[in-house]
Amino acid sequence: MRRKIVAGNWKMNNDLTETEGLITDIKKQQRTSDAQVMIAPTFTNLWHAYQALRLSDIEVVAQNMHFAESGAYTGEVSAGMLKSVGINGVILGHSERRAYFKETDEMLAEKVNAALENEMFVIFCFGEELDDRKAGRHEQVVESQIKNGLFHLQASQWKHIVLAYEPVWAIGTGETASPEQAQDMHAFIRQVLETKYGNAVAENTSILYGGSVKPANAEEIFSKPDVDGGLIGGAALKAEDFYAIVNAI
Ligand code: PGA
Repeated sequence: MRRKIVAGNWKMNNDLTETEGLITDIKKQQRTSDAQVMIAPTFTNLWHAYQALRLSDIEVVAQNMHFAESGAYTGEVSAGMLKSVGINGVILGHSERRAYFKETDEMLAEKVNAALENEMFVIFCFGEELDDRKAGRHEQVVESQIKNGLFHLQASQWKHIVLAYEPVWAIGTGETASPEQAQDMHAFIRQVLETKYGNAVAENTSILYGGSVKPANAEEIFSKPDVDGGLIGGAALKAEDFYAIVNAI
């Protein structure tokens, strides 16, 4: 059975004081769903977040990492460093990393390997641009991002992978994919997994939707059979909104 997950991607928001405040607010929220809750603060706040949440049911994950273990990569952070501050999961391939920091499928495949070698799980993001959707090649784009980033893995490694479909045109724009567009793409992704790896991997891999998920639209999106939760940006920065989304599952 695949897990239901709601993960908050804080992006480059919240200094230490703000992180403490938001975690305090999050801890006060009432939980009525059994979804796995995750938050992804910035690197500098991971250790604090881990300490503050280690006895809770909230998992703290990183937003990115480098593929090398150590060395002359100024400004970068390795999987081993994340592990050493209690972090067991990482978001990889976010469209902002792909667009602004020129992360390629090949780099992402290496990052995935580094994460798995360090016994971390990966939330692997992908999604088409508006032009791709307008031209009707959204499925092709998504399929190639998944293939290039992940299809070198063995079936047995997929238990460490969570997928996050995030159409670029819906991220931070207030424009959400319709529940039907999300469902159609998630069903397509599951089909792609089934063709390559068979039914067990396809059925057991959680596929999250991301892109302007809000308390007002979460329930309808999450009601779709192939949508297993969400990767939440803006709405994860307010504890009440984030938990309204968590509880919409
Ligand atoms: P958004 O971001 O919810 O603010 O659109 C989602 C994401 O980038 O993961």
